[in-house]
Amino acid sequence: MRIETLAVHAGHTIDPATGAVSSPIHLSTTFERDIEGTYSRGFMYTRNNNPNRQALEQGISALEGGAGAAAFASGTGASMSIFQTLVPGDHVLAHVDAYYGTSRLLREIFRRWGLDISFVDMSDLSAVEKALQSKTKLAWMETPSNPLLKIVDLAAVAKIVHGTDAICVCDNTWAPTLQRPFDLGADLILHSTTKYFGGHCDVLGGIVVAKTESDFFKRIKSIQYEGGAVPSPFDCWLILRGMRTLPWRMRAHSENAMKVADFLSGHSKVARVHYPGLKLHP
Ligand SMILES: Cc1ncc(COP(=O)(O)O)c(C=O)c1O
Repeated sequence: MRIETLAVHAGHTIDPATGAVSSPIHLSTTFERDIEGTYSRGFMYTRNNNPNRQALEQGISALEGGAGAAAFASGTGASMSIFQTLVPGDHVLAHVDAYYGTSRLLREIFRRWGLDISFVDMSDLSAVEKALQSKTKLAWMETPSNPLLKIVDLAAVAKIVHGTDAICVCDNTWAPTLQRPFDLGADLILHSTTKYFGGHCDVLGGIVVAKTESDFFKRIKSIQYEGGAVPSPFDCWLILRGMRTLPWRMRAHSENAMKVADFLSGHSKVARVHYPGLKLHP
């Protein structure tokens, strides 16, 4: 399927009870047991799983070509779950221009919890090589990065990092559908779905997508339902609704941004323009 078709159909089912083509929002926190006491319909309690969250996770996972996903109440909640899978003494290599909230999370919360963290400019491959340690367990890339729109060569960094035990995470918040990090070697993808997936400034959300059903991802899933930072069924419904038009909106965003960047680059009062579409962008 082309990405536009996938965005429309992924995570979509016809409601078997009514035939509704737009899925109902399942607000129920609790689900009925079978007569034997089991839950054959797959749902027990909404913190563990919910039909709308499952549809969102299946939808975004299919869009990114992953094996599964875990949705959270914000992008930061999703990032947090990734760092929470690590143990004191583990080393994290993070891109220096990662979203300031992610750097702050690492500096102010996870350093206190015993993670050893180095920030490097991941557009410099020799700096990545130098910063890797025997205890490096995770490399955090973000490309294009927020705020400077720096570009990291995902495939090259992944190749270096995969020479060790560490896994590669790509925060793909700013390039959904334009860039597919699993094809370039990422093991996990993070999205703040608050941005382009939601698309209408009315919902906060985050998701971790896994390339394979690894033990690392199983720990993230357990942090999701045991930690409880899950999105509401309505938020999941809104984000999945946003995804239906995502490829078209990304095209429009890119065309508009290109025009703004071109205009600003020719402006006498503008010293520098950061936009990867510009010919002079590194
Ligand atoms: C690249 C990136 N990652 C993560 C986040 C955090 O997402 P949220 O605001 O949904 O917690 C943001 C927010 O701006 C972001 O720009």
